[in-house]
Amino acid sequence: MTTLGTPLSPHATKVMLLGSGELGKEVLIALQRLGVETIAVDRYDNAPGQQVAHHARTITMSDPAQLKALIEAERPMLVVPEIEAIATPMLEELEAAGTVRVIPTARAARLTMDREGIRRLAAETLGLPTSPYQFCDSLAELQAAIDGVNGQGIGYPCIVKPVMSSSGKGQSKIDGPEDVQKAWDYAMAGGRVSHGRVIVEGFIDFDYEITQLTVRSVGADGQIVTNFCDPIGHVQVSGDYVESWQPMQMHAAALERAREVSKAVTDNLGGQGLFGVELFVKGEQVWFSEVSPRPHDTGLVTLCTQHQSEFELHARAILGLPVDTSLRNPGASAVIYGGADAQGMVFDGVDEALAIPGTDLRLFGKPESFTKRRMGVALARAEDTDTARSNAKLAASKVKPRVV
Ligand SMILES: Nc1ncnc2c1ncn2[C@@H]1O[C@H](COP(=O)(O)OP(=O)(O)O)[C@@H](O)[C@H]1O
Ligand SMILES: [Mg+2]
Repeated sequence: MTTLGTPLSPHATKVMLLGSGELGKEVLIALQRLGVETIAVDRYDNAPGQQVAHHARTITMSDPAQLKALIEAERPMLVVPEIEAIATPMLEELEAAGTVRVIPTARAARLTMDREGIRRLAAETLGLPTSPYQFCDSLAELQAAIDGVNGQGIGYPCIVKPVMSSSGKGQSKIDGPEDVQKAWDYAMAGGRVSHGRVIVEGFIDFDYEITQLTVRSVGADGQIVTNFCDPIGHVQVSGDYVESWQPMQMHAAALERAREVSKAVTDNLGGQGLFGVELFVKGEQVWFSEVSPRPHDTGLVTLCTQHQSEFELHARAILGLPVDTSLRNPGASAVIYGGADAQGMVFDGVDEALAIPGTDLRLFGKPESFTKRRMGVALARAEDTDTARSNAKLAASKVKPRVV
């Protein structure tokens, strides 16, 4: 039996989000609706999720001492990571000591905090198909990994990414020897932390890529059950998502394979919650790319397509509640970028965007905009994904961020 409390009372069910961006904000709203007392943590004040939570805390989450002090002071029932750059060894320590439960598990948070832990798990431990890859700590190592011995290297084209980065930061494609130095320098400038480790991956010439949202929740008999959402198709520009839609039409065999791979990875990571498994597909072939042990940005589309969005699914699964992953109608999402570096922007044309049939909007409320910062997303439901995609893109184009 699951019992939930009353927020701001001695019997509150307290949940702490580590990271309170646009994805965390929607998880927090879903938790609020169930009467959960919420604590939104971020590295800066007035982050999107902090604006909708009971409590807002600003700390450096990669600092183990600050993280420990905050968790011990607040004593939440659950700690829910929303970002990767967290002092995850400290989460493991606190979980092992019984101080707190980490979603989905502290080990999963550690393995997915950089590209190395999860890639080695998927490819080397689980034997799942991935792009060929190597980890390198210098330009010379990178060149050697590409060249290899006797033509056994990664070769061209290939992709270089800092081991700690997201949204395509520091990532570039190398088409030939003349690009190697530039890709290395770009990775060094774009990584989240200053140590210079990169992954170089062989380029997969896929037909399309998907996110397979996968939910581990408590079933009727008290055992963990795995449920899948309909696959989400998406378009990435320079490693950052700009557009997504659901359902993505797939060959039955490719879908079955995608779910096998997703199940293998999420079974190993364990715990309760929703995962976003990123997969490349070519014909019936499926490659594992990466996984978020939490809602995925391309899954914002589920706000207009599913009976329970990925955020509601996550909230329910972590609380031990049953989930419903079924699709309600086809739909699409299109990203709205800030387009400028500025504080306190205004957004013109919201009325025009929402006049397009079947559309909806999320403006995240970020206090500061950057040219390539995601400030909002347009959503569209329709009879088919083609119509939804064009309506979502049209709605996004109507919203014009303006510096005042
Ligand atoms: N090995 C690869 N082959 C082809 N495309 C790739 C490869 N790795 C990444 N990409 C493209 O770049 C995007 C971002 O890469 P990803 O590893 O998911 O980085 P991030 O963690 O920043 O999301 C992918 O969704 C895909 O479109
Ligand atoms: Mg990705």
